[in-house]
Amino acid sequence: MPLYRKRLRLVRGEGIYVWDSEGNRYLDLIAGIGVNVLGHSHPEWVLEMGKQMEKLVTAGPMFDHDEKYEMLEELSHWVDYEYVYMGNSGTEAVEAAIKFARLVTGREEIVAMRNAFHGRTLGSLSATWKPKYRDGFGPLLPGFKHVPFNDSEAVKDAVSEKTAAVIFEPIQGEGGVVPAKDEFVKTLRDVTEDKGALLIADEVQSGLRTGSFLAVEHYGVRPDIVTMGKGVGNGFPVSLTLTDLEVPRGKHGSTFGGNPLACRAVATTLRILRRERLVEKAGRKFVNFSGEHVVKTRGRGLMMGIVMKRPAGNYVRALQEKGILVNTAGTRVIRLLPPLVIEEGKLLEVREEVEGVLNDYL
Ligand SMILES: Cc1ncc(COP(=O)(O)O)c(C=O)c1O
Repeated sequence: MPLYRKRLRLVRGEGIYVWDSEGNRYLDLIAGIGVNVLGHSHPEWVLEMGKQMEKLVTAGPMFDHDEKYEMLEELSHWVDYEYVYMGNSGTEAVEAAIKFARLVTGREEIVAMRNAFHGRTLGSLSATWKPKYRDGFGPLLPGFKHVPFNDSEAVKDAVSEKTAAVIFEPIQGEGGVVPAKDEFVKTLRDVTEDKGALLIADEVQSGLRTGSFLAVEHYGVRPDIVTMGKGVGNGFPVSLTLTDLEVPRGKHGSTFGGNPLACRAVATTLRILRRERLVEKAGRKFVNFSGEHVVKTRGRGLMMGIVMKRPAGNYVRALQEKGILVNTAGTRVIRLLPPLVIEEGKLLEVREEVEGVLNDYL
């Protein structure tokens, strides 16, 4: 919070831009922290949501509705998991994943990664690594241990017949936009299979952005459970937990989860993404930023982290003053999660502008 001394009051958004209360326009390269994949106020999305609000907003989890089937039909174009649990936030998707893993395996232990971020409710927080998020909320859930990310040997040592699941982000987001190594993800799959444990890929941040629906697809690995959130509803709060595991009906649930409006949000967002091939195109939009103060650019597609030699907070503020919104991930990383509708030509302009600011600011 103290990072943003002058906190912007945003009043309006359109496409890749937002406006503040003083009428200034900003290029939004963070999109609600990776949420607005279609850009702000996408006309078709707004129209569909409006129509749905006039028709039916809520139904209660004990009832069926057409929107659920439309959403499932759309989802079937992207993934082939048998079941989906719908929640309202990324952390709820992770809570569900942890509960399902424990229930189905009858085991307690969860192996997570150092520097991981999985959310702030107590279960997800127990899998989250950084003390800044955890301290003061203890005792957290028992049975969690953390191993160094991208360290295959450490995972082999940590996973046993007591392990219910290993949870990881294919690209660590809050941890500094750090992609998992190929061999590491393959080891996660092999080790979990070998010990009868489950593999959970947390795609809340990496989903939709890397050129495929799930970032884990690039590794040729199929997790047992996948969590998604952020962009899947283009701003409507909704999350998905995908799996083939059979969890008895009624064992987990939520008042708002899977309501008609949420299903409409997901169905509409995914339909537009598919029609415009925006997920596929995102894979080709990665920008390699460079400059005197830049160490390197990490990530994949439209999930980018510019690693700086110095703390990133000052650069984030300098960019904001020039009308460009980004944020930090870890101390030295500037994070960009632009709307997927951003054009390649615009990104080249952006690169020049951003590099200019990074070079000027000492
Ligand atoms: C990988 C990952 N998992 C879970 C979450 C939690 O999502 P939410 O903030 O919607 O609860 C986040 C949020 O940044 C995330 O990046």
